[in-house]
Amino acid sequence: MIRTTAIALLASVCCNAFAADAASGKPDLEKARKIAESVCAACHAADGNSPTPANPILAGQGADYLFKQLKEFKAEEGKPALRNNAIMVGMTAALNTDDMRALAIYFSQQKIKPSAASNEKLVETGKHLWRKGDFDRGIPACAGCHGPAGAGLPAQYPRLAGQYAEYTELQLKNFRSEERSNDPERMMRTIADKLSDKQIKALADYIAGLR
Ligand code: HEC
Ligand code: HEC
Repeated sequence: MIRTTAIALLASVCCNAFAADAASGKPDLEKARKIAESVCAACHAADGNSPTPANPILAGQGADYLFKQLKEFKAEEGKPALRNNAIMVGMTAALNTDDMRALAIYFSQQKIKPSAASNEKLVETGKHLWRKGDFDRGIPACAGCHGPAGAGLPAQYPRLAGQYAEYTELQLKNFRSEERSNDPERMMRTIADKLSDKQIKALADYIAGLR
């Protein structure tokens, strides 16, 4: 009797875990490509190299970061989305977790066509802040988390290198005003709070040219 219960218990433990695994399964990259071509392409291009500076480049970004953003754009059970952007909240409404995971992997595997820096006068300011921060204002070096060349650290810190300056500038301002508040432990809000408009402009431009 005891033996049967033990076996039943073991079976349920084994097979619940297995079922959970099977439910998410292998990411369907073919389906992701179709969604990218039919939906995301309108703004981000099918390969994630968005042609418009207001829409971020997704190509080459870390899959974990992309997945986190997609999940947080999606408003669940009547609660407001953790990252509240009207367009992307709408875009994620019809996606399930498996779609989001597959889309994140799909875009991470595309090759980035990076943007470029355009403001010569701000380059030194941007470079200094990126590498050293600003001791007087208590701003840490961006390179400390996002990497010396802005490549990011998968699963923790997003890639920034080559992103459009316009998008980066908007995100830094959104972190500063707390309109964007999905950064773990307020990491980016604390930093952006100390950045001046000029420093934000310089950083955004420098980042666009980072390789
Ligand atoms: C109508 C235009 C539009 C469409 C279509 C669209 N997006 Fe977006 N997407 C945006 C904009 C604008 C932003 C920037 C949002 C912000 O400022 O927070 C964005 C942001 C994102 C981000 C965050 C990137 C980052 O670096 O944090 C991801 C991920 C993303 N989109 C994925 C997708 C996927 C996947 C699809 C297709 C299912 C899609 N988007 C369709 C306009 C669009
Ligand atoms: C302590 C670590 C840390 C430091 C230092 C740091 N960041 Fe970040 N940053 C993060 C994390 C974590 C995120 C991802 C937030 C999320 O999950 O949405 C992020 C996100 C960002 C984003 C949004 C990227 C996107 O695709 O939307 C920008 C832009 C950014 N950081 C710029 C900077 C700049 C500029 C500096 C230097 C002034 C800096 N960061 C310093 C941790 C850091």
